Amino acid sequence: SHEPLFAGKTITITAGPTREALDPVRFISNHSSGKMGYAIAQAALSLGAKVNIISGPVAIAPPSHAKVFPIESAEDMLKSAMHLAPQSDIFIGCAAVADYRAATVSHQKIKKQGDEITLTMIKNPDVIAHVAALKAQRPYTVGFAAETQNTSVYAQDKLKNKNLDMICANDVSVQGLGFNANNNALNLYWPDDNLNLPATSKQQLAMQLLHALAKRLK
Ligand code: PMT
Repeated sequence: SHEPLFAGKTITITAGPTREALDPVRFISNHSSGKMGYAIAQAALSLGAKVNIISGPVAIAPPSHAKVFPIESAEDMLKSAMHLAPQSDIFIGCAAVADYRAATVSHQKIKKQGDEITLTMIKNPDVIAHVAALKAQRPYTVGFAAETQNTSVYAQDKLKNKNLDMICANDVSVQGLGFNANNNALNLYWPDDNLNLPATSKQQLAMQLLHALAKRLK
């Protein structure tokens, strides 16, 4: 029943967490459920887009007409993203990508040892910043910002520093919203404009986000 706002467009969305291995049985990750990213994918499909999802490990099913590219680590995600971004009109980074990974991944299970152990971590590549830095075939690039304080300042810093076209900020310290919740609230920022989307279901919010994006692209 929706107007096909994105007919003929390809939208690639990252969703869910990454997992950064420590050894064959352990990893570092976060609480992203994939619900927000998958809701955007579903909304994009219903608006007529061709949809790719680059997805970390999640417990929910993807929308049936999306093409899913499963990944685990941030480095895996970067490879898929650099493959799909040049074929995409819009790239939306909704995944909660680990900023750091273990400096060395042990080939054997790490043995229980002394009372303290130290883990050295090194910076991961920034997936959305790599997409936004494409010189040719650069998609319209939309990031998310998950913050627990100073949301608008930190989000607008990310918009600028990562050279994004738009960023969707959420305050993930609010009970019942953000990570793993069914509802969320977003503040959308462009370099010269912003739009507040109050708390509602992730499905509704995804549709509102895509309508705001379509309006901006017109
Ligand atoms: O999955 P849900 O449970 O539904 O939860 C939704 C959500 C809270 C995960 C989602 O709304 C959200 O905020 N996603 C972004 C989470 C995040 O990691 O934000 P960030 O502020 O750390 O990262 C900023 C942007 O850079 C994001 O677009 C992120 O995908 C991207 N990034 C970050 C680090 C990195 N190494 N590579 C990236 O591409």
